[in-house]
Formats: sequence, C-alpha cells, structure tokens
Amino acid sequence: CGIVGILGKQPAVPTIIEALRRLEYRGYDSAGVATIENGHIGRRRASGKLDNLVKRVDGEPLPGLTGIGHTRWATHGAPTENNAHPHATENVAVVHNGIIENHEELKQELIELGQVFNSETDSETIVQMVDYHLKQGKTPKEAAYATLQRLEGAYAIAMIFASDENIMIGARHGAPLVVGFGEDEMYLGSDSLAVAPMTRKIAYMPDGVWTVLSHKGAEFFDMDGSTVECPVQTTALMAGAIGKDGYRHYMEKELHEHPVVIGQTLRRFVNPVTHKIELPELPFDIKNLKRGIITACGSAFYAGVIGRYWLEEIARLPIDLDVASEMRYRNPPFDQGGMGLLVSQSGETADTLAALRALKQAGQKIISVLNNEHSSMARESDVVLGMDAGVEIAVASTKAFTAQLTVLACLTLVMGQERGTISSEYADECLTALLDLPSRVAEILQMQEQIQKMAHIISQVQSVIYLGRGIMFPVAMEGALKLKEISYIHADAYAAGEMKHGPIALIDNTVPVISLLPSGPLFEKTLSNLQEAKARGGRILIFTDAKGAERVKNIAEQIVVLPTVHSFVTPPLYTVPVQMLAYEAALLKGTDVDQPRNLAKSVTVE
Ligand code: G6P
Repeated sequence: CGIVGILGKQPAVPTIIEALRRLEYRGYDSAGVATIENGHIGRRRASGKLDNLVKRVDGEPLPGLTGIGHTRWATHGAPTENNAHPHATENVAVVHNGIIENHEELKQELIELGQVFNSETDSETIVQMVDYHLKQGKTPKEAAYATLQRLEGAYAIAMIFASDENIMIGARHGAPLVVGFGEDEMYLGSDSLAVAPMTRKIAYMPDGVWTVLSHKGAEFFDMDGSTVECPVQTTALMAGAIGKDGYRHYMEKELHEHPVVIGQTLRRFVNPVTHKIELPELPFDIKNLKRGIITACGSAFYAGVIGRYWLEEIARLPIDLDVASEMRYRNPPFDQGGMGLLVSQSGETADTLAALRALKQAGQKIISVLNNEHSSMARESDVVLGMDAGVEIAVASTKAFTAQLTVLACLTLVMGQERGTISSEYADECLTALLDLPSRVAEILQMQEQIQKMAHIISQVQSVIYLGRGIMFPVAMEGALKLKEISYIHADAYAAGEMKHGPIALIDNTVPVISLLPSGPLFEKTLSNLQEAKARGGRILIFTDAKGAERVKNIAEQIVVLPTVHSFVTPPLYTVPVQMLAYEAALLKGTDVDQPRNLAKSVTVE
C-alpha cells in the first residue's frame, strides 16, 4: 500500500492525489483521502483505481489543509469502498500499510470497551484504539503512543486528528515511511517518490520510530517514548524522472531503458582507466569464503538464481538458494561468517527483509543488491551493491532485473579473480562482453516486429511452456513469470531436461513451447528435448543465435535470431526479448500492462 500525508498551507487534496499517482504502483485495489476542516474529518474513498477516487473528490471536494491519502493492496478484507483507507471515527483518521497481527484480540477488547467497528480490516483497530484513548481525555500524541505500544505486526501509519489540524503523527515498524520537510509544511510518504516534487529534504524513519509533525518540523521518538535523532538528507530524486516520455506504458519506457541502465550500472563499478571492476570492500575474506546463500522474491529471485549459476561455476563458491518467504522459516544450518546475498529492487519487500534479518541473526555477512539505496534493506546490510536503474514504475520489473544481473556479473568476476578460479584473460573477455551488452540489447529492442509475431501466436492460447537448460532455466522462469503477470496467459518454466518427467503430458498443439537456446555446450541436449515436444504435436518457438538458427529451422514454427554474444552475458541478453514478448502479448490481450490485476510492486507484508 502507499501512504501520503500533508500538513500544509493550501488545500491538501490535489497534492495528495498527485502523490498517490506516484504511489499507485504500491497497490491499486482502492484509494481514499481524508482532511480536517473546522474541527471535522472529511473523507472520500473509492474502490478500484485512483481515477475513481478523483471522480469522487471532483464531485464532492474536500477543502482541508491537513490530510492523508492511501492507495491499497488488500490483505484483510475485500477491496471495497468500505474497507478502503483512511479509516476514521469523528475524532481521528488513519492510513496504514502492513498487517496488525494481533488485530482480533485488540478488536475484541475495543468492542468490549464500546467501540463500534465499520470495516473488516485489521487497520481499523488502530483508529478505534486511538479514538478510545482520545475519548478518555488523552491528547493526540498520548493516544497515538498508547496505541502504538499495543500493536504487533508490521506497519507504517499516518494519523490526523479532528481536534487539531496542526498536528500529524506517523509511525513505522517493518514498513517504510519517510518524512519530508517543506517551508512551514510537512509531509509523510511511503517512499521518497511520494514527496519528491514537494521537497528534496527527507528523513528516512528508522524502524520502531514514530514522529509528531507540526508546521515547524518533526520530533522523533522510540517506543520507550525517548526522543531520537533522525537525520535529514537531501535527495537527488527528480519528479521529472517519472514521466512516460511519450511511451504508451511505463513498462515500454522501462524496457527501452535497458541499455542505458546496464551501461550506467557498469560505469559505477568499472574503472575506466584500469578497465578493472572495483567493488566496495566486502565484509569477508573472499578467497577463503566457504559458502553463500542467495535469497529474494519474484523477479529478483530469478536474478538471484542466475547469480548462483555464475558464482558456483565461475567463482567456485557453493551457493544455497531459496525464495525469501521459504528461506526465512527453513532454518538451514550455517557456519558463521558466510555470505548472505539479497537481491531487491525496492529494498522494502517484507519477505526479503525478514530473510535478511534471519540471515544476520545466523551470523551471515549481508550483501544486498539494491536499486533503492535509502531502503530498509540498505540500512540493515553490511554492504550495499547499488544499481543505477532509476525509478521503476511498472509493476512488472524489467530494467531493474538486468541491472541486478549486471551487478551480480561484476560480483562474480571479482570473486572469481580473487579466488583464483578464473584467469585474468577470461575475466577480461567477460568484462568486454558486459561492456558491449548495452549495444547488443539495443539491437534486440529493434526486433519488435518479430516479437509481435510470436506474441500473436501465444495471445491465442491459454497456456505456454518455457524451456531452458542451465543458466537459461532461470531466464525461462523470468519469461514465464512476466507473461503470466501482465498478459494473464498461464505460463510455466521447466528445466528442459525435466520436461520428459512430467510436463510433457501437457504438450499438444494448444500449448506452445518457447525455448531459450543459445549455442553452446547445452544446445544439443536442449534440442533433443524440443524434438520430444515436437513429436507430440507441440508448437516450437525459439530464441537463439545465428548458429543455432541453422540447426533448429526444421522444428521451429518461429525463430527469433538474437545477436551472438559471449556465453557469460546470455542471461541478461535473453531476458530482454522474453520481457518484450510478455509486453506485446499483454497489448494484444488488452490488459492493464503497468498495473496488472491483484499485484503490487512493493509488497511490504509477509
Ligand atoms: C513484487 C513484484 C515483483 C517483484 C517482487 C520483489 O511481488 O510484483 O515484480 O519482483 O515484488 O520485489 P523487490 O522490490 O524486492 O525486487
């Protein structure tokens, strides 16, 4: 969910709505705003996209200067207007991101105390508890504090009070919240993007801290009620970075940013004079490191799987791997001082953050590959390897994925050299291929027509199988995820050799098989697997290079010939066309490309 709050000098709602637009990627099931005017709380909410709320507010404006807004990704309670935030009584209005785990117990208690609930959400317990304390004569600050002390679970909260429009209270515990400092105005937001055009002066609130805002500034407290310092930083983030630049969708724009993002990320790590990769100092002795574990969610996880193939093969480092939501509870045995490697675009995904903490507790040194270097994960890592993907708005990740791979590739080459598992010639070859990658990717972006042709085939079926062997397997998984996320065509990825052990039962002429097949040692074996599918009436669609294309022309219904590159960079290269294919298929299906149903970009609940 996305949160914004304004303690302002002008009517707050237009600015809140603009901020919610920038936050809509965090959830878009329903939205709402509330303001204070003449000692009353006014509130408008609507289910569905933000535009529904805009219509509601246009019809019945809310003039208050102090207000909060929310865009929701439903957890407890359907995405109806009644469950939309802000939740409010006549005394207080609250927006909440996260889950209050003890909400049932608190609700029972509050009902016994005479509070009346109006929604099915866990969030309403916050508002009812604050309301109860206000009615007992507590000040807003005392009522908020008394409530926060009872909450269990994860939350970012903003509250406003009917009795005093000059105060707004925010709190964070496991879900992100920033405070923005303006000229006699103050802001709260789920991320710096929310407050970007209003101010560049931002305090990133640490976990377990709450804040009382007035027009003059912010005071910060911990859960013991003691004052804490929270440094104010100046962000470089420009609101201009978040337009569509003439593209139809953010996803299309972001796909076209692949070359520049890979190039920028390489510039961060490659010394132009020495032509060597330079990383920040790592928190362990690379040469003697015994083991690493990689964990992440969604697309970032598939980037992590590719990282595993690279680190094991090239740096000869044993890597354990799991999605964060499993890793967190699997409790595998660890030796002290191993590498915990996290991958995340947002740096806020609750599952990955929880896994980070579990790994830290198990004595692992944490390296995070992050796009958001001001995020919770950044703060809690031993070392952050940043990427320069810029703001990614489309819910389905594209450019952040290739940027993650670029960072992981650099890490692999540095580790390989330090551990003496690769020659400097091989490292140079790989680096040259990486530096050449933006140009090769730019060539693929020109291959729209062929990719549209393939999209046309798959947009007419219900189900697609992606096949890849070795390091192409995680790329196939990314292709399948992207396709189902945005086009709603069912897609699954299998290790090509595994197809004959089960998935082959699905093959007929209604289930096309898409194969990622660069020339190389695994080519022949994968080709045999495709022959098996073809023999059962499967329609074969292939991404390969010029040499491979010669060999597959008899079995493929369509071949897309990609540039021939060094095998080291095939994962990022083959990622680009599969993401483009998902985009083109989604266009043909007429789905909401940037905000696919049921998803959110940054999932800050476990
Ligand atoms: C959500 C998004 C995915 C994303 C995943 C991890 O589920 O829908 O596209 O890959 O979160 O996000 P992160 O910010 O940690 O990379």
